[in-house]
Amino acid sequence: MSEESGGGKIWGGRFTEETDAFVKAFTASVEFDRRLARHDIEGSIAHARMLARTGILSEAERDAIVDGLEAIGGEIEQGEFPWSVELEDVHMNIEARLTARIGDAGKKLHTGRSRNDQVATDIRMFLRDAIDAILGELRRLQRGLLEQAEREADTIMPGFTHLQVAQPVTFGHHMMAWFEMLERDAGRLIDCRRRANVMPLGAAALAGTSYPIDRHYTAELLGFDRPAENSLDAVSDRDFAIEFTAASAILLMHLSRFSEELIVWSSAQFGFIELPDRFCTGSSIMPQKKNPDVPELVRGKSGRVFGHLIGLLTLMKAQPLAYNKDNQEDKEPLFDTVDTVHHCLRAFADMVPAILPRRDRMLAAARSGFSTATDLADYLVRKGLPFRDAHEVVGRAVRLGVETGRDLAELTLDELRDFSPLIDEEVYQVLTLEGSVAARDHVGGTAPGQVRAAVSRARRRLEEAG
Ligand code: ARG
Repeated sequence: MSEESGGGKIWGGRFTEETDAFVKAFTASVEFDRRLARHDIEGSIAHARMLARTGILSEAERDAIVDGLEAIGGEIEQGEFPWSVELEDVHMNIEARLTARIGDAGKKLHTGRSRNDQVATDIRMFLRDAIDAILGELRRLQRGLLEQAEREADTIMPGFTHLQVAQPVTFGHHMMAWFEMLERDAGRLIDCRRRANVMPLGAAALAGTSYPIDRHYTAELLGFDRPAENSLDAVSDRDFAIEFTAASAILLMHLSRFSEELIVWSSAQFGFIELPDRFCTGSSIMPQKKNPDVPELVRGKSGRVFGHLIGLLTLMKAQPLAYNKDNQEDKEPLFDTVDTVHHCLRAFADMVPAILPRRDRMLAAARSGFSTATDLADYLVRKGLPFRDAHEVVGRAVRLGVETGRDLAELTLDELRDFSPLIDEEVYQVLTLEGSVAARDHVGGTAPGQVRAAVSRARRRLEEAG
């Protein structure tokens, strides 16, 4: 570290004194950005190949660089790489190590490049892979929902509005609602990946470079759709990270709703489902407890991702062009968002197919909640009564049911006819739960046949999405 000015730093040339020890630690990012090492090496290898192809480096230099970087990749994987906070970040750690291993050719790698375009490229490559992995878990969760939906297409449960029993639906239909939410989440992630997959490399520090580089070639080697159009924009904006975090925040908002329902449903009072023991924990003091920890944690973890979204927006807000050190702060929230979304989806993908619906409990709840009241009103409308009058008639019938502790289907025909002489024997067909769900027989409705059709359309969509 000692023989060069500026403490042997890669940028030490113009400095006359050592960086303050605390400032060194304060400005260093290697503790967290080393997570980008694999992508940093991949990017550097492509950059070196491009430099040789355009005659900026010799082929021998390129070969030495590529071999050296590959060996360093191996060291990192084996946990043998000598990470140094002195060297500030992942980029300078790897570059210094390269020069230590291969000598002067290593110092040529950074030709026509800056850490500004390098880091922007690394993060985009990292995010691309992260989105692919997240989509893998999201699709697995969706397949689990389809499995449940198909198996429980006939299972009747109360549907709720205001958390009050509203109308009967099927458990399969409810599963498909979650499926649709996730389908839109997948669309947002795919969209975000497309916009992120543009290459900053070549923008150099901010203005481009005076070397005769071939950005299309590097982009092709790295699997980017194209080089970024504007060098200032390429090194400075982190909107792709914000977009990803926004899509993740929405996804976790969905998972938190999903969690909330699982928590409520698995309570003794509802008892609609049984969560497998392996996704729950017990209490150290209350022996009877079985706590739905996984959904509770997922519900809670949504908060940190919402926080990261605001954090990243605030980080980017009002930054002048082009790169500013502020942007070093993009990584921790981004990494944590990636890990959180990935882990939550993984836990749900494992858990959802194993949820045990308690059909008897759901049926009983639908039965006792006057959930076919709308069906009775619709019946009266079909007999010629205006809907508002029908609403009033059924309301009175419900009141009698409440007062005498009976469901509508348990009222006698005479009792019902007291409310409206239009009612006859056939009324009991519409008062059944099965009749009620079967009647909602259109695209998007809860009839079991429609749920099965929705499942097969969804399967096809998933297959097409790959
Ligand atoms: N560690 C930096 C970051 O994460 C890399 C880019 C630094 N560039 C610079 N000119 N200081 O943003």
